[in-house]
This record gives sequence, structure tokens and C-alpha cells, in this order.
Amino acid sequence: MAANSSFPKYQSDGTLLGNALEWFDARFPLTSLWKAHLSEYYAPKNFNFWYFFGSMAIVVLIIQFVTGIFLVMHYQPNANLTPSGLPIAFESVEYIMREVPGGWFIRYMHSTGASFFFIVVYLHMFRGMLYGSYRKPRELIWIFGVLIFLCLMAIAFMGYLLPWGQMSYWGAQVILSFFSAIPVVGEDISTLIRGDYVVAGATLNRFFALHVCAVPLALLGLVVAHILALHEVGSNNPDGVEIKKFKDEKGIPLDGVPFHPQYTIGHDLPANVIMLIFFFAVIFFWPEGGGYFLEYNNFLPADPMTTPAHLAPVWYFTAFYSMLRAMTWNFFWIDAKIWGVISMFAGVLILAFLPWLDRSPAKSIRYRGPIFKVLLAFFVVSFAMLCYLGTKGTEYHFFGYTPTEGFNPLNILLSGSFHTKFWTFYYFLFFLTMPYWSKIDKCKPVPERVTFK
Ligand code: HEM
Repeated sequence: MAANSSFPKYQSDGTLLGNALEWFDARFPLTSLWKAHLSEYYAPKNFNFWYFFGSMAIVVLIIQFVTGIFLVMHYQPNANLTPSGLPIAFESVEYIMREVPGGWFIRYMHSTGASFFFIVVYLHMFRGMLYGSYRKPRELIWIFGVLIFLCLMAIAFMGYLLPWGQMSYWGAQVILSFFSAIPVVGEDISTLIRGDYVVAGATLNRFFALHVCAVPLALLGLVVAHILALHEVGSNNPDGVEIKKFKDEKGIPLDGVPFHPQYTIGHDLPANVIMLIFFFAVIFFWPEGGGYFLEYNNFLPADPMTTPAHLAPVWYFTAFYSMLRAMTWNFFWIDAKIWGVISMFAGVLILAFLPWLDRSPAKSIRYRGPIFKVLLAFFVVSFAMLCYLGTKGTEYHFFGYTPTEGFNPLNILLSGSFHTKFWTFYYFLFFLTMPYWSKIDKCKPVPERVTFK
């Protein structure tokens, strides 16, 4: 249902506004875009709350763009020191927080927005897994989604360097040092990314350029492509059936309703208002998110001479950080560090293959068999455990102590490092064995049309 010229052009009702609209519509596909993507885009009538998160991601995206523009008006990407001995970048963030009218609000909207972005995107992706939204014919929507996710991670990682606090500095130092483990070209790649032999002013400048300009542009283009691809094939739904199979004499799907106003006003608007209430509650009462949204160490200026005692990335990276730390063995003469980098990237990229790994006859969890339900539940546990363990030090133990002397199997079983390895293994096993178990799982019969009460 892409925008096309088959939609009749707007006819003025003789008013000034009507005439202006007619003039505009004759020169720009305003009516056809509106109809094709909103008022005559027929979405399945059985959407549930899992379908809130796409529109929420758009709202958070807008928040990030608007607040980002205001931050750029005052922020200075400069690692040199002021006469008071603080880095200029760090001071400019403090200036935004203390001196710029409403600056604290804009900054907290942006920092909280980053965490909200990942919350809604993780839930949005999980919805795709629940209802098989990545399956034919929606593979490309999903692949654009994975690219969006990569862009989001890149933007968040580079944005975190900008305040030039201790975690900005040391977080970037740790992650970039891993690239140097890549054989032959690693050192050169690290130097190229940093623009220096260590994380320094040049790194800050290039991360700034990429964070505010290059990657957001790519992200925006991908979001448009994501939605165009979705509107080309139509939305999936909680039953995982195609509504385009059954149409009335006008060609309108029998189980479809116009996206606008039904879903815009009746579904997404109230959901987004509730999200914004939570969002502003966090900003006003809990802006650091208990050290998870903004880490306490990042309120200290970057100091290349002092490494913080405990280094952990922001919560939304911790699952992949765990995958990086899970690799502690040198297999096949390849350094453990390299396996770590491979496993971290593979953890994201494997998602792109989901449309071809899943061979189940049913798309939606409603009709899928017990194997899928059990393995998916453990997949959620694995991701949650990896997120949690990534926030802890390598010596973490579930009973708060580390193995001391001798071989003690219980100590090993309860150690953070064992669990990091175990759940990383499970995460990959879930995907790699999917072609097998998704095929043999006993599915229920899938209805022809959506079920809706
Ligand atoms: C900036 C981030 C993103 C934005 C703004 C966004 C936006 C949207 C919107 C508005 C929809 C239609 C409404 C809905 O189904 O909820 C949608 C659908 C979809 N998105 Fe995203 N998305 C984003 C990221 C992702 C990511 C990271 C993935 C997966 C890796 C993904 C996969 C999908 C899929 C498969 C659908 C179709 C769902 C269905 O029809 O059931 N999206 N997206």
C-alpha cells in the first residue's frame, strides 16, 4: 500500500486553507502520503499492547533529536583543560546543568531518553520474536531493524564519551582496546577510531561528529526504510496470520482497520501519554536511574591517570559486554580477546538471520509448540542474566564471596564467570539449533483469520 497517484487529489472547499491545501497537494503527494500511510493503511484489528512500542520508539527518537539540538548549542567537544583544571567538555556539561536555563531538564531528557530508547526497542524486538514478525514477507523490515539497533548502539556508545567523565573515558578505552586484538590490522583500526594512540581530544571530536551528525542521519534513513518496508507488506499481528488474504469488494482487508484514527488516537496516543508520564517521573525524581542511566563515576572528570575501581558499561550494553567477557580461552591459536570481540558482535548480528533460522509452520507464540515456549523463556532468562552479570565485576559471586583455596564445585557453579559463560552459550545455542527444534515442535492449527473479541 505504498503512496501512489491512484488516490484522488485534494479538492478545495473554497476556504483559504482549502485553497492552500489544494495548491500544495497539486505539487506534492500530500494526500496520497496521508492516505497510503495513515488513513487508508489497513492494520490488523487485533493489535495488543505489544504494538505500542514502535510508535513509542518514534516518540523517543523525536525527543532525542530535539533535545540533542539544544544540547549542541551549549556543549563543547574539547578535551583541553580550563584554568580551573577541568576538561572543557566536562565543564560545558556542568554549565548546561547549572547555568543554562532549563539546561538540566534538556540534558536529563536526553540521558533518560537514551535508556528509554533501549527499553522500548528491546520490547519492540521481543514482540517480533513472540509473533514471528520477522518471518516472510517481513524479513527486510527485521533486517532494517537490526541495522537500526546497530546504529542506536553506536550513537549511545559515542554519546557516552561526550561528557568526558571517568566512565566516558575508561569505558571507551576498554572497548576500543579490544579492537586492537584483531590480528594484523587491529592496532591500525584502534588508532583510526581513536585518532590517537590513546583515547584523547581527537577521539572526542570524531565521536562528536559521528554522534550528532553521521549516525543519526543513517538512523533516520533506516527508520524511514523500516516503515516503508512495513507498509509495503502490511503489519503482522498477534495471531501471525496475513490479513491481506481476505478482502472485501473494494480491496480492503476484512480484518483491517484504518491506522488513522483507530490506532493513532485509540491506541498509540494514550500509550505514549502514559510512557511520557513515566519518562518525566524518572527525569524529575530519579534522573540517574540508580546509577544505571547515568553512572555515578561519570560525574567525575576524565582522568587518564586514575582507572575507576569498577568498570561497567551502561545497562543496555551489559548483555553484549558479558558475551565479550565470557571468552577467556585461546581457541585455535586465536586470542581470547578476539573471541570476545567476535562473540559480542555475533550476539547482535545473529539476530539478522532469525528469519531463516526459524522453520516453524506457525508464526505466533499463540499457536507454537511447547519447545518454543520453554526455550524462549530461557532465552529471556539468558538475556536478563547477561545484562545483570555485565554490571558486576569479573570476580562476582552469587553469595558475595569469591572462591578462595582449592577446588570447590559449588563455588564455581555460583560464580559470575561461570554464569556468564553458561548463559552466553545458551544465547547462541538458542539461535543455532533453532532450524532443528522449530521444525519438530508441535504447533496448534493456525486460524485463517485473526481472532478478535
Ligand atoms: C528507532 C528504532 C525503531 C523505530 C522508530 C521503529 C518503528 C516501528 C514502527 C512504528 C513499527 C510499526 C508499529 C509496530 O509494529 O509497533 C515497526 C514495526 C516493526 N519493527 Fe520497528 N522500529 C525500530 C526498531 C526496530 C528494531 C531494532 C527491530 C528489530 C531488530 C524492529 C523490528 C520491527 C518489525 C519486525 C516490525 C513489524 C512488526 C509487525 O508487523 O508485527 N524495529 N517499527
